[in-house]
Amino acid sequence: MTNIPTFDRHRRLRRTAGMRDLVRETHLHKTDLVYPMFIVEGEKVRKQVPSMPGVYQLSLDLLTEEIDELEELGIQAVILFGVPNEKDEQGTGAFIDEGIVQQATRKIKTKVPSMLVIADTCLCEYTSHGHCGVIHDHDVDNDASLELLAKTAVSQAKAGADIIAPSNMMDGFVAVIRQALDQAGFTQIPIMSYAVKYASSFYGPFRDAADSTPQFGDRKTYQMDPANRLEALREAKSDVHEGADFLIVKPALSYLDIVREMKNNFDLPIVAYNVSGEYAMVKAAAQNGWIDEQALVMEKLLSMKRAGADLIITYFAKDVAKWLVEKN
Ligand code: PBG
Ligand code: ZN
Repeated sequence: MTNIPTFDRHRRLRRTAGMRDLVRETHLHKTDLVYPMFIVEGEKVRKQVPSMPGVYQLSLDLLTEEIDELEELGIQAVILFGVPNEKDEQGTGAFIDEGIVQQATRKIKTKVPSMLVIADTCLCEYTSHGHCGVIHDHDVDNDASLELLAKTAVSQAKAGADIIAPSNMMDGFVAVIRQALDQAGFTQIPIMSYAVKYASSFYGPFRDAADSTPQFGDRKTYQMDPANRLEALREAKSDVHEGADFLIVKPALSYLDIVREMKNNFDLPIVAYNVSGEYAMVKAAAQNGWIDEQALVMEKLLSMKRAGADLIITYFAKDVAKWLVEKN
């Protein structure tokens, strides 16, 4: 046998669990997690979303229990989506004081003040046509929608939201919301912008959960083409310029190159949204016994962090919090 050199021996650092722990580059923490919630009207509603096993539409009266559970698990942030009974052309339910998200926010902030409430700011759950803005000539009118979006953000801040997360992909949405928040005295409320949001097929289960499927057409005139990378840089650049405090990339898994791109180009916290379709695929495979759910989910979320995400919005947050405790 010839002399095998002792350099380039990478397996040395993988020999034992302790050694592997010592050299691990990326870690997942409970404080990285944001848990999405769907709030509905009515009482005692805890309705499982068929395409998202383990995810429920919850009524306001059951909210406190759920928040207590999250707090016990060590999850410190939630993002709220409202599913109202009544919808109209303008999405009025999004910006009224008694709106579902406004009520939920007040409730959470009263019961558990330390829980960070992130309000998703969009109109699609509230409009009769299911689009993210108001419709003129069969398309979403950018500037008319901005006005309603700003009103929504201010009403959410008034209700006590800690962070405003606009997701409707209108041009100028961060600028308009920043200005409206500042004018209303909410200069300290940050904006977590869905800066890079692709027109993706991975949102299907969410639209069931939030009852927000567009009634005609699709979202391709405002959400991004999955083929584009430079466009993501342009989108993010505008949002940073307009005053965003966080940048979201959505979906996460098929767009980890974009997450890395954001991390390398901007110095704001980067958020990956592990969306509903990504959740549903794992659950379906797990229910068939085809994968090891825990191992697979941990690997996926770790990959998002390795790609550059500082935070992860995920329907798996509760499971992950439990698994992280077991591990320690
Ligand atoms: C729309 C919105 C979407 C999601 C959150 N807010 C996507 C859409 O319907 O276009 C998707 C989240 C998910 O799939 O988990 N404002
Ligand atoms: Zn929307």
